[in-house]
Amino acid sequence: MAQGKITVSLIKADIGGWPGHATVHPELMKIAEKELKKAVDKNLLVDFHVSHVGDDLELIMTHHKGENSEKIHQLAWNTFEKGTKRAKELKLYGAGQDLLADSFSGNIKGMGPGCAEMEFTEREGEPLVAFMMDKTEPGAFNLPIYRIFADPFNTAGLVIDPSCHMGFNFEVWDIQEDKKVLLSSPEEIYDILALIGAKERYVIKRVWPKKEHKLPNNEPVAVISTDKLYHIAGKYVGKDDPVALVRAQSGLPALGEVLEPFAFPHLVSGWMRGSHNGPIMPVSVEDAICTRFDGPPRAVALGFQIAKGKLVGPVDLFKGPGFDLTRRKSEEVADYMRRHGPFEPHRLPLADMEYTTLPGVMKKLGERFEKAE
Ligand code: F6R
Ligand code: MG
Ligand code: MG
Repeated sequence: MAQGKITVSLIKADIGGWPGHATVHPELMKIAEKELKKAVDKNLLVDFHVSHVGDDLELIMTHHKGENSEKIHQLAWNTFEKGTKRAKELKLYGAGQDLLADSFSGNIKGMGPGCAEMEFTEREGEPLVAFMMDKTEPGAFNLPIYRIFADPFNTAGLVIDPSCHMGFNFEVWDIQEDKKVLLSSPEEIYDILALIGAKERYVIKRVWPKKEHKLPNNEPVAVISTDKLYHIAGKYVGKDDPVALVRAQSGLPALGEVLEPFAFPHLVSGWMRGSHNGPIMPVSVEDAICTRFDGPPRAVALGFQIAKGKLVGPVDLFKGPGFDLTRRKSEEVADYMRRHGPFEPHRLPLADMEYTTLPGVMKKLGERFEKAE
């Protein structure tokens, strides 16, 4: 750990839904709070906040152990295991579903839970937003993160604030080939968009300040979880509901610029059976219960000021009238998409579906297929 640095780790898992895949049982939240409190008492964590979005239990933690710390990942894993034990007793739905490994082996990445972490030097005023989504996948963050850090129609600061006028660097991952590329905005925005518009494959992993920026250019200003359960498990085991951490203000997009892209309920893939396109709906934690057709996909934003590692907050940023119109629009779009029933583009293309009966249908119809003229 370098002097003056803090690490924020947001680690989440679905360890059992209540009922179905709707939300998290309060007992699981209590167990997580108890475990993380013990870690604060042992000086492993500086602070924490436990939350949930849909059926995902979310652990927001601050500490001085840096990214990829075995101790912090072990703490999250053990917490999820403890929760799973209770989830099994309560017969919660899909108890332990995201714990794909039998036991912890050093780093939680690749074991099922999703993880977004960043280490940085805490500024005089350090606003941070933890975004958490349910019933969708990491590429769902591409559009809002691009808008926050690259789109002048979203972020006025890119145009009128000299301290961020130079733009930002985007680290984009190809999650199918496990490759990454660093691209510079605004110079390379068409290349960035060529990649990240294909959100199933190319996802923004981090955003970095450029060397002309007043912030250190080796400390990220945003990070997104990119864990792909499909690649981990070798078969589809559910959409990997993503999380992101975004820093704001003084040379970075203002808090309101960070939230602004969510005023548009863009289409994401996931929703029912991880096999449908639908609008993302920004909601408060209280309303982060996936009901209609197991959705529509939800996004929650919790805001904090960080004070020597303490999480001063949260403020439930999508709560209240500011996003009412978006929620209504999202319901309208959900309704419109639902009318397509099993037809694309509501249903996902074959390769992206979590469930498919097609091989069985093809087998059954096998001999009835003839050469078309
Ligand atoms: C989507 C999701 C749910 C389930 C659906 C069927 O990510 O978790 O929509 O896919 O409720 O669940 P099972 O097959 O468990 O009955
Ligand atoms: Mg679930
Ligand atoms: Mg989920």
